[in-house]
Amino acid sequence: MKTTASAAAEPDHVRAAPFHPDPYPYYGRLARERKFHHDAANGWWVAASAAAVTEVLTSDICLTRPPDAAIPEALRNGAAAEIFGRLVRLRDDAARGKLKDAVTGALRSIDLALVAALTRRRAIELDHEQGPPRDPASTTRFMFALPVQVVAGLLGIPRERFGDVMAWLGDYGAAAAAAGTGIPFPTSERIARGHGGARGLFDLVRAIAADDRQRGPLLEALVREARGAGCADEDDIVANAIGYMVQGHASTASLIGSTLLALARRPALCAEVDADRKLLRPLIQEVVRFDPVTSSTFRFMARDGEIAGQRLRQGEMIMVLLAAANRDPVLNAEPDRFDIARTDRRYLEFGAGAHVCPADRFVLLIVEIAVDHLLTGGVPLGRLESSLSYGVSGHVRTPLFKA
Ligand code: HEM
Repeated sequence: MKTTASAAAEPDHVRAAPFHPDPYPYYGRLARERKFHHDAANGWWVAASAAAVTEVLTSDICLTRPPDAAIPEALRNGAAAEIFGRLVRLRDDAARGKLKDAVTGALRSIDLALVAALTRRRAIELDHEQGPPRDPASTTRFMFALPVQVVAGLLGIPRERFGDVMAWLGDYGAAAAAAGTGIPFPTSERIARGHGGARGLFDLVRAIAADDRQRGPLLEALVREARGAGCADEDDIVANAIGYMVQGHASTASLIGSTLLALARRPALCAEVDADRKLLRPLIQEVVRFDPVTSSTFRFMARDGEIAGQRLRQGEMIMVLLAAANRDPVLNAEPDRFDIARTDRRYLEFGAGAHVCPADRFVLLIVEIAVDHLLTGGVPLGRLESSLSYGVSGHVRTPLFKA
């Protein structure tokens, strides 16, 4: 029997929340009543209020990795470690600052009109290659293919390699998540596939980075910005070029899916959007606040210190609930009301502080074009809810529509 949102019991703990049918009563209660607390059963701290989440993300004693394990044990000694250990997302060493500036500067230098044109063209090509999304399963395929293939094209990866790249990203992503969070379980087969995927990605992107004629505009900008900032390590550049795809793959696909669901659940709003596509942007921003895809991230204490008035010890882990903070009434009035007309909308979905996501405008644009394309093409909104399950992940909320 299918579990309905209202019938399901609350998640057992925060890592089970991203794939729960409706975790928001739980998240909202944590944000209001258990703003920053210790979960003794699981041995981690939980930051849930907007203030606690912001304090953790902007604290210089909260690291993205444990102080004694920059690379998870399960990934060491293989190609996956070469990506994982070099990503600005997962580093707090002295060299990362310049690299982050280069990663951000390169992405922001790309003309959004070019991104829009590429996204529209690729959406049409995908319809020809895999058929227009007219059922739940093909809708899911489109959601996953479009955003990552736009980024791949901007890096200079040729179209005939997109299939390989998506398979490698899937394998690398599953291994990295398994090694970093234990979800899914890090079996030796999963880790081995992750190393294989990482090797394929590294070899392909390194060859493109080394050839002036092959580099696409985003890779060209990253090479220019990184060299200009004095980042001499070519492998750091290659890994962070791959990082654009790793970071955006599941999350952007998920945001397309969550936006479709928001429409499927609100027929009157859907009619309004059909009549006026300018409503798509505020709709997507309300979905980002109300049903976000990056449910949480985590941090580790660099040393003993105080966070949100509590004394924490070196190495302790903090689960940072972005999705709960978005439901904190301090951040948004009446946070449980879905309202695309909010004028004072605030969310922490793209993070804060040193590791803030550089891609927010880029993401909103791609999702807007994707949803517009799907609505025009007759995506089966009415069949999405009954085919819905959420991908099993400790941090990302990924709606999957299956046949
Ligand atoms: C819906 C889509 C996306 C969401 C919700 C999202 C959200 C986030 C969040 C919350 C972080 C910070 C994580 C932390 O502090 O622990 C982050 C980091 C990052 N994101 Fe995104 N992201 C999205 C898509 C993308 C895309 C498409 C790209 C690249 C094209 C991208 C590039 C990055 C990078 C490079 C970082 C690392 C920044 C750093 O650590 O300094 N993201 N993202």
